[in-house]
Amino acid sequence: MQHFIKTSDLDIPTIHKILEKANHYRDKTPEKILEDKTIITAFFENSTRTLSSFEIAAKNLGAKVIRLDVSKSSTSKGETIADTAANLNAMNPHAIIIRHKNAGAGEHLARHIDCPIINGGDGAHAHPTQALLDLLTIFNHFKGDIKGKKVGIVGDIKNSRVANSNIELLTRFGLDITLIAPPHFLPYTTLKTSHNLKESIKNLDILISLRTQTERHNYQIYGSLKDYAKDFCVTKDLIANQDIIILHPGPVHHNIDLDDEVLKDDRCKVLDQVNNGVLIRMAVIEHCVL
Ligand code: NCD
Repeated sequence: MQHFIKTSDLDIPTIHKILEKANHYRDKTPEKILEDKTIITAFFENSTRTLSSFEIAAKNLGAKVIRLDVSKSSTSKGETIADTAANLNAMNPHAIIIRHKNAGAGEHLARHIDCPIINGGDGAHAHPTQALLDLLTIFNHFKGDIKGKKVGIVGDIKNSRVANSNIELLTRFGLDITLIAPPHFLPYTTLKTSHNLKESIKNLDILISLRTQTERHNYQIYGSLKDYAKDFCVTKDLIANQDIIILHPGPVHHNIDLDDEVLKDDRCKVLDQVNNGVLIRMAVIEHCVL
């Protein structure tokens, strides 16, 4: 059985197959290969893109999708995640897609469940399908020639599961990563780091901007988002005429992470990422379920 909790669960040949499959689904109406399958989405944390992306992906392949309505589930009555899992398991689903505010929730669930668990984001730990869709966006833009490409990740890296998953995955594919953030947003790392976006951006082929994860801060460790934006917002001025692509997983803090002009620029791939997200999740669900 193939769970997908973190990017390192998949080896490079398998990831290549998933990228190929995702691109194949872009060009071809998918067959309903999951017609006899039931997939549960259990999102214990808010989501717009990821939940709908997974549900569309599963339905595109013909699966029945049952959304656990968390606000009405017994978790709000104090049921443990293990008990919820055991009950869901007894309904014999073919996969459960989980998002949870606690790191390790997917791994924990996998111990109590007989079907594949796909992680839709756990705390600040991992968001593996986001990293895969980012990789697909980069891979297609550079027509597969990505080894050695210089990628910057800018934002609240320390608290970001997207950063964690991208660092693992993009490093394995030979990209050269620089983490760019104020000191309080940088994790301990052996990667290159910078506090200066204006200087660092000049050397980059790709910049991944991330939202400040205010929901994971116990207290405000910085002045204000406006102060942060002065040095770290990606602006039209900063990217000038540079040959660079800009990614962001959403939701975007407008004019804090990316300015509105950058969002309208062809080099900004945010909507391509959303489109690639459905395709990648189709390929991932197929890989885990069949
Ligand atoms: C990210 C997440 O939830 O981790 N968004 C997403 O999945 N599209 C990033 C974020 O919330 O900032």
